Amino acid sequence: MEPTMERDLEMFRRRRRALLHRMRSLGGGVLLLPAAEEKLRNPSAEYLFRQDSDHYYVTGFDEPEGCALLIAGKCGAEAAADEDRPELVMFVRPRDKEKEIWTGYRAGVEGAREVYGADQAYPVAELEARLPGLLDKAGPLWFRLGVDPAWDARVGRAIAELRNRSRAGSEPPPGVKDLELLLHEARLVKSPEEVARLRRAAEITAEAHMAAMRDGQPGRREGQVQAEIEYAFRRRGGAGPGYGTIVATGVNGCVLHYRAGDTVLKDGELCLVDAGGEYDLYTADVTRTFPVNGAFSKPQRALYELVLESQLAAMEAVKPGATLDAVHDVCVRKLVEGMIRLGLLQGGVDERIEDKGFRRYYMHRTSHWLGMDVHDVGAYYLDGKSRPLAAGMVLTVEPGLYVAPDDAQAPEEFRGIGIRIEDDLVVTGSGYENLTDAVPKTVEEVESTCVR
Ligand code: GLY
Ligand code: MN
Ligand code: MN
Repeated sequence: MEPTMERDLEMFRRRRRALLHRMRSLGGGVLLLPAAEEKLRNPSAEYLFRQDSDHYYVTGFDEPEGCALLIAGKCGAEAAADEDRPELVMFVRPRDKEKEIWTGYRAGVEGAREVYGADQAYPVAELEARLPGLLDKAGPLWFRLGVDPAWDARVGRAIAELRNRSRAGSEPPPGVKDLELLLHEARLVKSPEEVARLRRAAEITAEAHMAAMRDGQPGRREGQVQAEIEYAFRRRGGAGPGYGTIVATGVNGCVLHYRAGDTVLKDGELCLVDAGGEYDLYTADVTRTFPVNGAFSKPQRALYELVLESQLAAMEAVKPGATLDAVHDVCVRKLVEGMIRLGLLQGGVDERIEDKGFRRYYMHRTSHWLGMDVHDVGAYYLDGKSRPLAAGMVLTVEPGLYVAPDDAQAPEEFRGIGIRIEDDLVVTGSGYENLTDAVPKTVEEVESTCVR
């Protein structure tokens, strides 16, 4: 791991400055970011902790519970009275010798101030008592409603308390605004430091997919291939998978949200692997489909080359000013042309696009944003229109074809074949860079990696 990539606290400070600047241009207020909580898997065993992406993006703080508040306060003429307001306030688990023996080191309120740059820090236990005071006369509240009912209720109580105190001069937030136009716009356009992290996640992921192609031989089980993949993630300094690893052999490849199960990989099948490693809270999202016996059959190859052709065409459409709708349309047209050629669809290309007949075999979208979350934040549509791409945005391009095993309309040779090919692209000034270009993809590259 390169130490410079880890906890670059200056990077988080720069982000906060930029966010405060943007908040002031949007009417000021307070940005409230709950930390993730530990979740029980079963009594006394927890799921692996993963910090909330919004919280981490702003603070770099990686412990559960509490929240961070970024306070721009009121704007305009009233701003002067606001000058001694803290900008970053954190509520954290306090240092506790006894608890730290069991569950590990805590930064505590001292660490929140000294290491993470909080102007004020308090123990989590003081949160409910202090929240109304922090929101009083501070302008609108930026908060994502509808994620955690406990937080929605906590925010509601703080606002109600200020309303009750309005006769004594309290001013509750005049409104609650969603994070989309503030924080999520910022997260959508990746800085060079973020692209560097995604690049690292992509490198780790490329190794993992090559390991899967080598390991995924007849007789192996999906779960064993998954283990090879996740071993590669951890061995190279990744945190693990950024989302549930999919290893789907044979007809399982037609189930879009299949996870690695225990099915044995068989000679003559394709194995679909959708897996991405996470590095410093940024994840790759890559799919490859390879022949278990190391060589595509004729029908498998025909469908594979069609998906690949559509993917390459869609990728060529990625550039500043283009839209995800346009990228999807290019992809769909190529797929429909090929499906008619191969006898999966009948009639004309425009007809099948128009009546959406292609959805029988291609039922998902071509792209989504990618970053700290696999389906990353950021608006897809602005004013009802697919938004133009801009340099620094990161997206997947992931066409597929899925022919159900019992699809009596499909030529028999294609039944039960599921294929997806997925790469991660960063939009550049003139086009795109494929961050996951190192993962074998052409028929020849895949077959020569699947040494049997
Ligand atoms: N792995 C989830 C997706 O491809 O969108
Ligand atoms: Mn994806
Ligand atoms: Mn994927």
